[in-house]
Amino acid sequence: MSGMVTMQAMLKIDVISVQPKMFAGFLTESIVARAVAKGACEVNIVDLRDFGEGRWRKVDDKPYGGGPGMLMKCGPWFGAVESRVGSGDRAPGTRVVMTSPSGRKFTQRDAEELSRESHLVFMCGHYEGFDARIDTLATDAFSVGDFVMTGGELAAAAMVDSIVRLLPGVLGGGPAATASESFGRDGLLEAPQYTKPPEFRGMKVPEVLLSGDHSRIEAWRKSEARRLTERERPDLLR
Ligand SMILES: C[S@@+](CC[C@H](N)C(=O)[O-])C[C@H]1O[C@@H](n2cnc3c(N)ncnc32)[C@H](O)[C@@H]1O
Repeated sequence: MSGMVTMQAMLKIDVISVQPKMFAGFLTESIVARAVAKGACEVNIVDLRDFGEGRWRKVDDKPYGGGPGMLMKCGPWFGAVESRVGSGDRAPGTRVVMTSPSGRKFTQRDAEELSRESHLVFMCGHYEGFDARIDTLATDAFSVGDFVMTGGELAAAAMVDSIVRLLPGVLGGGPAATASESFGRDGLLEAPQYTKPPEFRGMKVPEVLLSGDHSRIEAWRKSEARRLTERERPDLLR
């Protein structure tokens, strides 16, 4: 098959959620669908309720000590994660990622690191979050930003997307396509980009980009990337 990936074994991704239907479009309409079709990865959505307790497949309960809302219970989560990775030490190349607003902020470096593993399991929380003992299942806890969402599904989808597009053969243009992007090799934001027409409503494409002079274009992009990063994300320069 043309475009078949040969450089790296297929990455296996499991996503555990109480809302598995949220991933329907994500799996058929995104870069992930292309990566699966190319044989770069396999993605399984696991319904946490299959590991729920009792007749009603219960996965949550009231917090000890009082407080609003419900917490996710240990039993279903231990059952679901262990069904994917076993109950002993994690095999090399396996990472179990908990989605959590109190996790470390997920970055491009993490996406790069996870794209080199062989098996990733994403844990999507819900309600008021996880019983704290569930943390022991995870090798990593990641937040996608300083805000609180209803569940971990969108966080997991964002992370999976950013990982899968780095797998060999998934994006046209290869590693060069991602190295020159924001947070790429130089750690800066990407310089502004333009396409046709050369002038739109009085706004002109910078002359240098039309010059055909590749060394001038490269120098311009470098200085614009730095200027943009200083303005929008000075923290990246520290
Ligand atoms: C309503 S949140 C729980 C918030 C928790 N009570 C707190 O204050 O930190 C439910 C679930 O959504 C997911 N979630 C919410 N915001 C997130 C974020 N910024 N990054 C990653 N996961 C998030 C997590 O899986 C979390 O367990």
